[in-house]
Amino acid sequence: MLEIAHPFDALMDITARPQTVFVRGEGAYLWDDTGKRYLDFIQGWAVNCLGHTPACVADALAAQAKLLITPSPAYYNATSLKLAKALVNATCFDQVFFANSGAEANEGAIKLARKYGALHKGGAFEIITFEGGFHGRTLATMSASGKKAFGPLFEPKVAGFRKARLNDIECVRQLIGDNTVAIMLEPIQGEAGVWPASDEFLQALRALTYEHGLLFIVDEIQTGMGRTGKLFHYEHAGITPDIMTLGKGIGGGVPLAALLATERASCFEHGDQGGTFNGNPLMCAAGLAVIEEVSKPEFLQAAADTGLYLESELQKLSARHGLGDVRGRGLLLALDLKLPIGAAIVAQAFEAGLLLNSPQPDALRFMPSLNVTREEIKAMIDGLDRIMVKPGQRGEWHESFTHCGPVRKRWPQNGSLLGL
Ligand SMILES: Cc1ncc(COP(=O)(O)O)c(C=O)c1O
Repeated sequence: MLEIAHPFDALMDITARPQTVFVRGEGAYLWDDTGKRYLDFIQGWAVNCLGHTPACVADALAAQAKLLITPSPAYYNATSLKLAKALVNATCFDQVFFANSGAEANEGAIKLARKYGALHKGGAFEIITFEGGFHGRTLATMSASGKKAFGPLFEPKVAGFRKARLNDIECVRQLIGDNTVAIMLEPIQGEAGVWPASDEFLQALRALTYEHGLLFIVDEIQTGMGRTGKLFHYEHAGITPDIMTLGKGIGGGVPLAALLATERASCFEHGDQGGTFNGNPLMCAAGLAVIEEVSKPEFLQAAADTGLYLESELQKLSARHGLGDVRGRGLLLALDLKLPIGAAIVAQAFEAGLLLNSPQPDALRFMPSLNVTREEIKAMIDGLDRIMVKPGQRGEWHESFTHCGPVRKRWPQNGSLLGL
C-alpha cells in the first residue's frame, strides 16, 4: 500500500475522523488515496442528492465559472434570479434569500420571525422549537436546537427559544405566551435519530399557529429537495408553512442554502439581512441544475419507490438479525439496533468499504443519493448482513460489537462524531 503523509495537524481537530483521505467520488462511491473504494450511504450528510460529482452539477459549475463567479451581492445576477423563481414556482412561498449553509439560512429564519414580531406582534420574539431538534451550529441555531449535547456548550445561549416535545400538541399549546412569534421544527429529526413529526401533528401545529397568529417555520434542510419522496416534506401533510429553510440537497454538494417566505412573512427591510457570498451565481448554477433534475415528476416518483424498497430491505434485514423498527420517510431512514452498537457497526462497515452513519448509539441512519440504485442498496444490505452474521455467531452478533475496541487512533466509538 502506498503510504502518503498527510498534514492532519494543520486542521483544527474539531471532530474524530478515521485517518483516511478521500480523493475522488462518483455516483454512490468514494475512493481514498490508496485506491480503496467505499459504497457511500452518507453522501456528504444527505447532501449529494444526485450522488458524487453528478455531471449536470459539474457542467453547470464549469460553465458558470467561465461566465461570472461573483458580481457582489450589491447587484442582481441572472442565475440567482432564475433559481429564486424556480424555487418560488415549486413551493408555496413568494420570496427567497440565499445563504451558504443551513445554519445561516436558519439564522435568517429566526431573524425574519423576530422582525415579524417587531412589526406585527408588539415585539414578540420567542420561538417554540423542539426537544431533539437540530438547526445548526451558530450560537442562535444551537440555542434553537434541542440536542442534549449542546446543553452546556458556549453559555450563555441566545435567549428566546422554548422547547416543546415532538408530537405533543398540548405541550406546544402550553408554551405559547404573549412573547411567542413562531413555531419552528424539523419535520423529521435527523440528528436525534430520524424521529418524524406525524402528519397529524404538522396539521395541528398549522392550525395552532393560525389560531394564535404565529409564523410556522419548517427546517427542511435535510428533508427538502426530494429526500422524503416529495419535493418538500410539508407536502405530505397538505399544509403550507410561512417560512422554510433549505440546505444540503439544494446545492447537490456545494455550499448553498435558502430561506423562503410567503409574502406575509417576507418582511426584511434594507439593512436587516445580507452577506458577501449570498446568492453568488456559481453556487446558484449548481442549485439550478439540481432543481431541474430533482423536480421532474419521474425523478421524484423513482426516489419515492427507491425509498420504499430500502425500507422493505431494512425491515427484512432487521427480521433476520432480531433488530428493531425502521423509521423515517423516503430516503431518510433509520434502523433501530436495540443496543448501543451503532458506532461499532459504523467502524466495521468502514473497514469493509461501506460508509454508514449512527446518529445515536442505538440507530443507523441511511441517507443515500436520491438516484441510488437497487443494486447499490442490495450491496449495502449484503455488507451489513456480512458484518452482523459471522460464521457460527447467528443470534450472538451483538457480543462481537459490544466487545470490540476502538478501530483507529483518533476515531472513538461514536459514529455521530464523524460529521457536521
Ligand atoms: C435539519 C437541519 N438543520 C440545519 C442544519 C445545519 O446545516 P449546516 O450544517 O449546513 O449549517 C442541519 C445539518 O445537518 C440539519 O440537518
